[in-house]
Amino acid sequence: MEAVKVAVIYYSATGTVHSLAVAAADGAEKAGATVRLRKVRESAPETAVAANPAWEQHARDTLDVVEATLDDVAWADVVLFGTPTRYGTPAAQLNAFIDTTGPLWQQGQLADKVYTAFSASGTAHGGQESTILALSNVFYHWGGIIVPPGYTDSIQYRSGNPYGTSHVSGEGPPGDLALEAARHQARRAVETATALKLGRAAA
Ligand SMILES: Cc1cc2nc3c(=O)[nH]c(=O)nc-3n(C[C@H](O)[C@H](O)[C@H](O)COP(=O)(O)O)c2cc1C
Repeated sequence: MEAVKVAVIYYSATGTVHSLAVAAADGAEKAGATVRLRKVRESAPETAVAANPAWEQHARDTLDVVEATLDDVAWADVVLFGTPTRYGTPAAQLNAFIDTTGPLWQQGQLADKVYTAFSASGTAHGGQESTILALSNVFYHWGGIIVPPGYTDSIQYRSGNPYGTSHVSGEGPPGDLALEAARHQARRAVETATALKLGRAAA
């Protein structure tokens, strides 16, 4: 069977979600998938980015990360979306990318894929779950197969978010716990997609 294809599509201003995305890509690769790690296009004014040294630094550090296109979504069997929380909802930059998927949706190309999402917030109860659930609304419209991490691995009892890997950026960059949770989430999505692929091939 051809390897499961995974797109990790994310937005990150100051690097937290980027770190989770890299870990998710690693987890997917280790599970045998072919992986594309993609950032969505920055749409904030240059003056806003320049006014925040951490934002500007992260933009410089990730110049080599390829920007997401619709082809990445069409190509993938699994899409993991990552976003910081913005007032309890996904970042505008990721929403802007999602808003360009209309043509794929019309052609039925978004249905039947595996989707899962991860997030970061400044504070512990700052909206990680509502952000991930907001993305799930999109997956429902797409006819996606939502694969949350749940409590399917012991790491989940320690990292603590069954909706999707999350990190409190106000406490510093993601450590081993969050990064391992991201790897587990991606691994589980790949395993589910593998089972679907095998089942569809046999049908
Ligand atoms: C406009 C804006 C809104 C935000 N809203 C929230 C929020 O509602 N709750 C929260 O805990 N953090 C909030 N944050 C903090 C971000 O979620 C946090 O900086 C982010 O998770 C860091 O991720 P990144 O390093 O990948 O950019 C907000 C940040 C910005 C700029």
